[in-house]
Amino acid sequence: GLIRELIGIDVMELELKHRLKIRKVIIVPGNSDESLMVKEDLGKACAFCMKKYLTGKNIIAVTGGSTMAAVANVLTPEIGKKELLFVPARGGIGEDVQNQANTISSIMSKNTKSKHRVFYVPDQVSNEIYQSLIKEPEIHEVLNLIKSASMVLHGIGDAITMAERRNSKPEIMQKLVTNAAVGEAFGYYFNEKGEIVHKVLTIGLQLEDLAQIPNVIAVAGGTSKAKAIKAYMKKAPASTILITDEGAARMLLKG
Ligand code: G3H
Repeated sequence: GLIRELIGIDVMELELKHRLKIRKVIIVPGNSDESLMVKEDLGKACAFCMKKYLTGKNIIAVTGGSTMAAVANVLTPEIGKKELLFVPARGGIGEDVQNQANTISSIMSKNTKSKHRVFYVPDQVSNEIYQSLIKEPEIHEVLNLIKSASMVLHGIGDAITMAERRNSKPEIMQKLVTNAAVGEAFGYYFNEKGEIVHKVLTIGLQLEDLAQIPNVIAVAGGTSKAKAIKAYMKKAPASTILITDEGAARMLLKG
């Protein structure tokens, strides 16, 4: 109702932080489902937040998606005055090239005039292939960098939207529907309770690794992502900073 509309953004930020039990929430005005400018504002808010938490030397692990691409687009050399090394958080998880973590990490390094490492590993690896791949010196080295990241930047997606975008097999789609998956992050799919109902097997950062990473910044907005954000935040480390928009925030606060 009207009372809710009148609640200021700063009040919503505190209320959401409290409800989601995370470190901080930053809300930009508008709804990124409806406006590309709002998505760009999410990117700018993320860049501002990064600047605040960067130290002398930083390894920054990033995931894929259009929101992360929006972050990459607004990064500038100014932010790269600190020592930065960008790495993809996980191996391929079935996205088109413009949405892949490798692509986004390389754009981030280019725009900040800093370094990056590529991490080309296939998605859906079997345990055997996994065991032999991690013995490859190049892969082993990048994997160590990823695991020692000081900052992680990641998106959150609606489960079915993400599975469709990744051309997931019919049996995976069925599994997600049967288990009522609503959210996705890092290739993990969650139900409303925050339980993992499916996971894309790939090399790189695993959900349990996040607890060791000092700065975890999640960037996700749009009314359509409210359920996904709520679900994922049940599993997210308490150190998470969420950058979202008014569209998602108002929907989250209704619940
Ligand atoms: O894992 C979540 C997705 O990367 C989010 O993608 O930012 O294009 O909605 P998106």
